[in-house]
Amino acid sequence: MSLMNAAREVRENAYAPYSKFKVGAAIRSASGVVYTGCNVENVAYPEGTCAEAGAIAAMVAAGETRLTEVTVIADSPSPVPPCGGCRQKLAEFADADVPVVLATTAGARLETTVGDLLPGRFDAGHMTNAS
Ligand code: THU
Repeated sequence: MSLMNAAREVRENAYAPYSKFKVGAAIRSASGVVYTGCNVENVAYPEGTCAEAGAIAAMVAAGETRLTEVTVIADSPSPVPPCGGCRQKLAEFADADVPVVLATTAGARLETTVGDLLPGRFDAGHMTNAS
């Protein structure tokens, strides 16, 4: 199944009673497997999780830690940009040139990369002791 169809399908399962904004995400891992996630909200609002976080959690739970492609879809007027936290989460498991497709259910499409979504990202190199 294409990432677009997988993201579109999992979006239907989003639990978004508070925002009413359903999001679906699909990622392809280095081995070629497709993992999906949807947003899962909570009455304690900050406890909600994004679609991208769900897809990444599924990949890691299955034993994989590298992703090569991402698609995110929502019923938004323009392709939905991942939140700041999700950009950092994606960057943890992807090279900067990994393609990210942002889509709307109406068919709009915006192609970007993990690197363009999070320039100047914090990475492990910033934690090494320079002295
Ligand atoms: N949301 C996502 O799941 N992914 C995004 O890229 C943007 C926002 C969710 C979080 C929340 O459940 C709802 O959309 C409204 O912010």
